[in-house]
Formats: sequence, C-alpha cells, structure tokens
Amino acid sequence: MEKHIAVIRGDGIGPEIVEQTLRVLDRIGRKYGHTFTYTDVAMGGCAIDQYGDPLPQSQLDACLAADSVLLGAVGGPKWEGLPGDKRPEKGLLRLRSAMGLYANSRPARLWPQLADASPLKQSIVDKGIDFIVVRELIGGVYFGQHTTRTVDGEVRAEDTMPYSEGEIRRIGRIGFETARKRRKKLCCVDKANVLDTSRLWRRVLEELAKDYPDVAFSEMFVDNAAMQIVRDPSQFDVIVTENMFGDILSDEASMITGSIGMIPSSSLGEGSRGLYEPIHGSAPDIAGQDKANPIGTILSAAMMLRYSFSLEEEAKAIENAVNAALNAGVRTADLAAPGAASVGCRAMGDAVIVRL
Ligand code: IPM
Ligand code: MG
Repeated sequence: MEKHIAVIRGDGIGPEIVEQTLRVLDRIGRKYGHTFTYTDVAMGGCAIDQYGDPLPQSQLDACLAADSVLLGAVGGPKWEGLPGDKRPEKGLLRLRSAMGLYANSRPARLWPQLADASPLKQSIVDKGIDFIVVRELIGGVYFGQHTTRTVDGEVRAEDTMPYSEGEIRRIGRIGFETARKRRKKLCCVDKANVLDTSRLWRRVLEELAKDYPDVAFSEMFVDNAAMQIVRDPSQFDVIVTENMFGDILSDEASMITGSIGMIPSSSLGEGSRGLYEPIHGSAPDIAGQDKANPIGTILSAAMMLRYSFSLEEEAKAIENAVNAALNAGVRTADLAAPGAASVGCRAMGDAVIVRL
C-alpha cells in the first residue's frame, strides 16, 4: 500500500512527538511492505511566523490533497496576545471545518501498568476505565457568531451555539455505531434542562435510538457527567456530546487514565481521510528538551492506520509495541512515579520501535 500523509509538526513539543511517530510509521512500512510518504504542512504559530496566517490556503490544500493528516500540537505563549481569528488555534479549527471532520473520537482507557498514575482512588480505578468521548467537532459555539461590541458605553461579547437536526443526526449515528462495536451503551451528554440546542440533541438522539434497539441509550446532564466521570468512570462506554462539552469532558477523561500524554484521537467526516492528533496541547514549558511523551501521537498514527487505511494488523502492532514498552517499565517523566527514573521522548520512540 502507498499512502501520502500531510504532516503538521506544529508548535511546542509538536515537532518532537511527530518525529518519533514518523519513525514508528517508517518501521511499520518496512515490516509490512507499505510506503508512507510525507508532506510537511505549516499550521499554527509556526505558520503565523512564516506566512502571517495560522493556516494559509496553500497549506490547507496540501492537507486536502493527502490521504490523511497527522498533527502534533499548535499554540504557545508567543502568539497568545493575537486577536481571535489570528491565533494558532484558528488554523486548527479552520482545518477541521474545511476537511468536514465532524466526528472526533477520544478514547479514555486506563493502561493497567499506569494505574498508579491515575489521580483516582484505587477502589475506583480497579473497576476499570474504558470509554470513548465522541465529540461533535465542527458545529456549536466554536463555529457560531462571535461578536464583541460596545453597547451603552460598555463592552459586550456574545457567542452563539447553533445546531441543526442534520448536524446532530450524523454525529449521533457515529455514536450509536461506535457503541455497537463495543459494550453497546451510549450516553448523550447535554444541558437539556437549560439549552434549546440540548433539547434538540435529545429529540434527535431519541429518534435515532429506535434504529439501534441493541444499544442501551441514556441521557445525562453535563454537570452530572463531569461528576460521574470521577465518581465511577466504569459506568461509561460511549459518550456522545456537542463540541464544547466534548472538549471539556475529554480533558477530564484523559487525566483520570493517568496522563493526558497517552490519549490519541481521530477526527473523521464522510470519506476515509481523517485528522489524527494527540489530545494534549503544545506544552511549551518542556518544548525542545526531549521530555515529551510521544505515545499519544504514536497511538494516533495507529488510529490512522485502522480508520483511514483499514490496516488493522499494523495498528494492533503499534498498540502492542506501546504496551510492551510500558510492561518493560519504560516511562517518560509524565508517567513515572515521583522520584523514579524516566526516559526522554526519543528514547520512548526507540523503546516502541525495537518492540515492533
Ligand atoms: C482540543 C483543543 C482545541 C479545541 C483547541 C486547541 C482549539 O483544546 O483539540 O481539544 O478546543 O478543540
Ligand atoms: Mg481541548
């Protein structure tokens, strides 16, 4: 198989974690007889520095021409003061929207070897953590109207949260289909006691539920869900939710598994082309020091092989190699117990590659 991947190294630790991931992909290519070719794409702060734009059209076109896109992370303090539509994050939002990537899947799974790194009590962790947040990615408040203006001598800001039935139905279907392949439980998380958009989410999801009688469907308010995720995460299988709730809950979900550095994600639309990125940010405080954990990005590449290229065996091989490296006690600083030894980003890449 020959596949062309657009590679966005991005800002902060992005270049380091992507470098290790490309080494893993190259190893997979050699082992299984595939050729992966890469085009570097500038997005985020580095694109602002180079082009004065977080995602110039030429760079977006390169992503649209690729079979899939791999992303490290974007953003950092250097670009913090810029206006909303000039910030690095805007490049990412524009990319997601232009690629039509409405379905973002963020698995929160506890690796048993890392149970000690979870901030939750042992008795809670022992019940297991293995659920997926299916987040709507190109609608809602992120893409509504944003205005700041002066009214009666006072500055007022406003963000609107629009959702249509069609936008809800397509992500709802992904939620049900995902649940069907797992433990067959889907929970719609919303704020239907306050928001019209949430009441529409419930109506559409309840209608869809009739097509999936084999999936146990439930509904939960987002404030309660935030509490239940730390009280008893074992109750969740698949959570489906709107864009901003999904942003918040997926950070919470990642932390209880031990480290945000471990969690991959996939973003897909109608075709097979997707965007794959770890859910963590650019961690500017440790950038360029060979301290970052590359596993979230490496596991994102495994998701790319599985969902965009249908290479299940190769995806499993990567996941097994990560598992074996953890079993051997290899830990980056974010995973190591206080005072225990840890390795750098490149050495973690090596530890995975030798086990492939
Ligand atoms: C994420 C990030 C982004 C988001 C930011 C960087 C715009 O937090 O992928 O979760 O809010 O979607
Ligand atoms: Mg986020």
